[in-house]
Amino acid sequence: MDMDSNYLQIQPLLLMLTDKHFDFNIYLYQNDNYILYATPENFTEEHRSRLIRNGIENLYIDNSDKLTYELFIEKNLPDILESSKVPLQAKSKILYNHSLDVVESFFIQSGKEYLNKESYQKMVALVDNIYGFLEKNPYAIQSMRSLIATHYREYIHCINTALYAISLLIYHNEDSGRKLRKSFVRQVGVGALLHDIGKSKVHQSILSKPAALTSNEFEEVKKHPIYGLEMCQHMKLSQPVTQCVMFHHEKLDGSGYPSGTKNIPDHVRIVTIADMFDAITCDRPYRKHKVTGFEALKIISKDVERGKLDRAMVASFIRMISQGMIRL
Ligand SMILES: [Fe+2]
Ligand SMILES: [Fe+2]
Repeated sequence: MDMDSNYLQIQPLLLMLTDKHFDFNIYLYQNDNYILYATPENFTEEHRSRLIRNGIENLYIDNSDKLTYELFIEKNLPDILESSKVPLQAKSKILYNHSLDVVESFFIQSGKEYLNKESYQKMVALVDNIYGFLEKNPYAIQSMRSLIATHYREYIHCINTALYAISLLIYHNEDSGRKLRKSFVRQVGVGALLHDIGKSKVHQSILSKPAALTSNEFEEVKKHPIYGLEMCQHMKLSQPVTQCVMFHHEKLDGSGYPSGTKNIPDHVRIVTIADMFDAITCDRPYRKHKVTGFEALKIISKDVERGKLDRAMVASFIRMISQGMIRL
């Protein structure tokens, strides 16, 4: 969501595609001015079809309506994702943009204080929506991937990791004929969304350093799973969630950090593969060339040969790619 003094940009798709009632004024941005387009009372079908006809991208609401707007999305998102009238690409876009809003505000809050119950609940609802959507539309991961911002931000990386992890979890289990429990997927999804939350305790100058880290700086970065664990303990998070935060950099041969354990729960192994794939393919401040998905797979496969990653899970991930669910 773009922040501009008194107005917030919103997703026009949502208003174009649903006939749900909303409780906020809508503004257009024209000639350097915000102009009232419609109020909840006077909004008609004609307003809606004009938005669609003109392909309007820049819709805004008053800043003071932010909460009302978020509630509107939260309430209507499941229906939109289910609707046969809304194209898949539009659903993906709405869901991805909503993820950005939810996870960004969660990260901003958690940087200042300990995790807040209400925004945590929002994340759980988000994971439920992502799970339901990817379960019914396995190929939607591809359309969501095309939206993935290449510009690196911690919270964006966490969303991408969650998308890959949930897809891989669904796919890997279907492949091996096991039945997934919703409550379990929810915890893995939240764990993936939170996996790097501890980085908010690492100094920004280290995280965004446009050069290789000194060994002291690297030691500091390597503490983020422990910082994350401390933050999660205040929330009394379930074990599967906490394990994702604590163990996502551990390797099966014991070469990982922070503890060097070889004993890594299955669901964390999935998050680790998702995390690596996104971390390798994202733009980083210190990286001069973009690494392709194909190169990322080569790096990941090498780690399988070295006994660091779960062979069967990486094989599932590669099969997802070969079936075109994720295009490189
Ligand atoms: Fe990490
Ligand atoms: Fe990560």
